[in-house]
Amino acid sequence: MKTKQFSRQDFQAAADYIAQRTRHRPRIGLVLGSGFGEFADAIENADIIPYADIPHFPRSTVEGHKGRLVVGHLEDQTIMVMQGRVHFYEGFTMEEVTFPVRVMRAFGVEVLILTNAAGGLNPDFKTGDIMLIEDQINFLGMVGNNPLMGPNDPELGPRFPDMSTLYDRRLRELAIDVAEKMGITLRRGVYAGLSGPAFETPAEVRMLRIIGADATGMSTTNESLVARHGGMRVLGFSGITNEAIDTIDTPRVTSHEEVLEAGEVLVPRMSGLLRGILRRWDEVA
Ligand code: HPA
Repeated sequence: MKTKQFSRQDFQAAADYIAQRTRHRPRIGLVLGSGFGEFADAIENADIIPYADIPHFPRSTVEGHKGRLVVGHLEDQTIMVMQGRVHFYEGFTMEEVTFPVRVMRAFGVEVLILTNAAGGLNPDFKTGDIMLIEDQINFLGMVGNNPLMGPNDPELGPRFPDMSTLYDRRLRELAIDVAEKMGITLRRGVYAGLSGPAFETPAEVRMLRIIGADATGMSTTNESLVARHGGMRVLGFSGITNEAIDTIDTPRVTSHEEVLEAGEVLVPRMSGLLRGILRRWDEVA
């Protein structure tokens, strides 16, 4: 098995570099998934740091992922936004995929908000819906690609971390209340993280439903595990960009263009929800 590539010193070196490039000291981190990047444009007093400048930081190769950190203010909160992420299917190792999470932690970020574009598995879900992630199934981990594999640094987190409290209860409750008061329909469910890059076959879609997944995508589960391992509180949202196809020879296909297109509809909705949550952050801080 591969040995660990990064150490605590590497995470700290990247965090120290970021500290030199921004005057802000956020406690909240936000990862923007496919199509959600423009949310970062709303950040005020922004310091912008391209991933390419940060030591060891992986660089995204996927359309719809800009590849920069935007640090500044939104709704009176200080926040560090990742405008784009990297994925396992791009050929990065699990350590590279989750490196930014370790860096945020080293920087002092305590709460991580993860967003993604996802296929809707639950037949009630429609394109354009937002799902609050209540729990996850990490397929990559189940087949031996858990990002916590390898030697464990106890300074970062425990060898055998509990995952029954992966998605923070108080943050979830706040999200539900904010959505209700703002009139935003908020679905709830289980996110299944797969490797991609191929979309699921209809048989896989039906299997995912049977095992209890409501939405599926190619990210998030690795970042959430590492964040929780490091003692961060985690909140997650899936933007449903397409309804997964569950029957062979259905006269439509799933495409990345479709995913990005739906992102345009989803951005205002997701932005409203995130802003609403930040406005009431003091209730959960
Ligand atoms: N499957 C997997 N990942 C996705 C999908 C999907 O249908 N839509 C957006 N990301």
